[in-house]
Amino acid sequence: MCGIVGYVGSRSVSECLLEGLHRLEYRGYDSAGIAVISDGEISVRKKAGRVMELARLVEEQPLFGNIGIGHTRWATHGETTDANSHPHLGGNGEVVIVHNGVIENHDSLRNQLIALGYVFHSQTDTEVAAHLMAHHLSEQLKLNSDEPCVDTCLRAVNLTLDRLKGTYGICVMFRDCPDTIIAARSGSPLVIGVGKNEYFLASDSSPLIGCTQDVVYLADNEVVVLNATGMKIAHRTTGRVQPSIQTLDQVSADIDLGNYPHYMLKEIFEQPTSVENAMRGRLDEGEATAVIGGLNLTAQQLRTFDRVVLTACGTSWHAGLVGEYLLEEFARLPTEVEYASELRYRNPPISDRTLVFSITQSGETADTLAAMRECQRKGHPTLSICNVVGSTIAREADGGIYLHAGPEIGVASTKAFTSQVTVLSLLALYLGRMRHLSYPAGKRIIKQLREMPEKIEEALKCHERVQEISEKYAHFNNFLYLGRLYNFPVALEGALKLKEISYIHAEGYPAAEMKHGPIALVDEQTPSVFIVPKGGIQPKVISNMEEVKARRGPVIALACEGDKEVERIADDVIIVPDVEEYLQPLVCAIPLQLLSYHIALLRGCNVDRPRNLAKSVTVE
Ligand code: F6R
Repeated sequence: MCGIVGYVGSRSVSECLLEGLHRLEYRGYDSAGIAVISDGEISVRKKAGRVMELARLVEEQPLFGNIGIGHTRWATHGETTDANSHPHLGGNGEVVIVHNGVIENHDSLRNQLIALGYVFHSQTDTEVAAHLMAHHLSEQLKLNSDEPCVDTCLRAVNLTLDRLKGTYGICVMFRDCPDTIIAARSGSPLVIGVGKNEYFLASDSSPLIGCTQDVVYLADNEVVVLNATGMKIAHRTTGRVQPSIQTLDQVSADIDLGNYPHYMLKEIFEQPTSVENAMRGRLDEGEATAVIGGLNLTAQQLRTFDRVVLTACGTSWHAGLVGEYLLEEFARLPTEVEYASELRYRNPPISDRTLVFSITQSGETADTLAAMRECQRKGHPTLSICNVVGSTIAREADGGIYLHAGPEIGVASTKAFTSQVTVLSLLALYLGRMRHLSYPAGKRIIKQLREMPEKIEEALKCHERVQEISEKYAHFNNFLYLGRLYNFPVALEGALKLKEISYIHAEGYPAAEMKHGPIALVDEQTPSVFIVPKGGIQPKVISNMEEVKARRGPVIALACEGDKEVERIADDVIIVPDVEEYLQPLVCAIPLQLLSYHIALLRGCNVDRPRNLAKSVTVE
């Protein structure tokens, strides 16, 4: 939510900031802006709308210089207007800031600042921080007029941060300290790119790819002071921090669209590879188990756990539901899947024998992070299943498993879901083989897992068929998605994909639950998407299909090739490969991702940047 960039060095700063904002746009696209210092003046260009529109504005009214900050906004306080766009100036233009997060006490601070004579030009919480910086700066200048300017500015930043309640990733520049950027974080991520006589700042590493491989992840309560020749990091209470420089292993190709029209389509088609990457080096044929390093728990410790809690939001929560079924089936471990937003405020019984995993693509979701910290506060080791290397959750977890899916840029999560399900299958196999799962069963699972990249490739062959079907159904305004057992979470995920990118109302249900209420929705105008590949209780789902047809509801079915019974009942069939039931989510998710993609396109929606959403939800 909201993307921040900053740069100091010798490059042309406007281009550098705009390129960074393009890459961070998935974090928010309500408005964008940049601020540059040159000739002792702070100049701002900002605009409601996409980064592209800001780029046009900068073309008409160029900004030259070598130091600047930028922001792409996901609105929290105040509408999406030019005035509410960041950067925000403080005082009489002596301070400028960009901010990601929420300042919870903005109202009372605003009143105090108004009483002091500060004039507000926006409805944002951020402008409060800008004026507060200006206020503390003027106070400090009165007290310490002969110390170096940067020290006074830093003190003004710290005094301001002391008074903020809430979360922030913040970058500040001061007109009278024109070669310095000061940045700080508490709850919202910031990463520093270290170059030769240049430094970059960003909310995540994507703007840094191709600029530098050396990065430093700022931790909560740390403040960094940057100029072209150096950086100083300090913890706000414990003092100077020796930066730990890490190497970024992403390359530009990871974030290029290639020949695809949208990131979402690219990422859907990357799934044979991303699933393969999730398994790479993690299957041990000899022992018929998975190899999972990084959990930081010995086999003996892992055997003592008698319960698992998986916590996540959105699509990651759906993957968690598949994980519940897998862990209970393979490892016989009672598993609960908790919405992180609920877990963080509940007080569920978690004992020393409960293993907690946070599942997250971005590693920055505020609720998931808070749920993890809540569990850690109570002394429970909390592990993560995460995609973004170096993200806050990955760093703060007591151990974990990376997805290795590569950057997911489309706002609707696709490849992260299948990679999460793959990693959860490995985890279930690993924990299962420490408990009840036999050697032959482990061998069989490994063989089936190895076939998955090929099966996903096969599933992708439905693309044209899905495109055809989408044309027939794109005009409907309500959909039901129905599946059972391993395909119940897939139904939820299919409905979520349709909702988020085509703004069509869709509900996912376990197929058998339909008759307990949702069947009342069925009529000629409400298509049902049944996930009905071969499997133990397929006849039951087929009966549910009959029930929908009997009420004249249109039916789209995902089924295996040659399934005559499904073909007879359904109006339209999409073929999915025949795989073991526990692996069906990996192939059945594919046509549903494509269906939502094509329906959204036909309805003229922006598939990569759906309205009101942002890729990583770093506010509560
Ligand atoms: C849906 C989607 C969201 C995320 C959710 C959690 O397509 O992208 O529902 O899954 O916001 O995000 P992560 O996995 O980054 O914690």
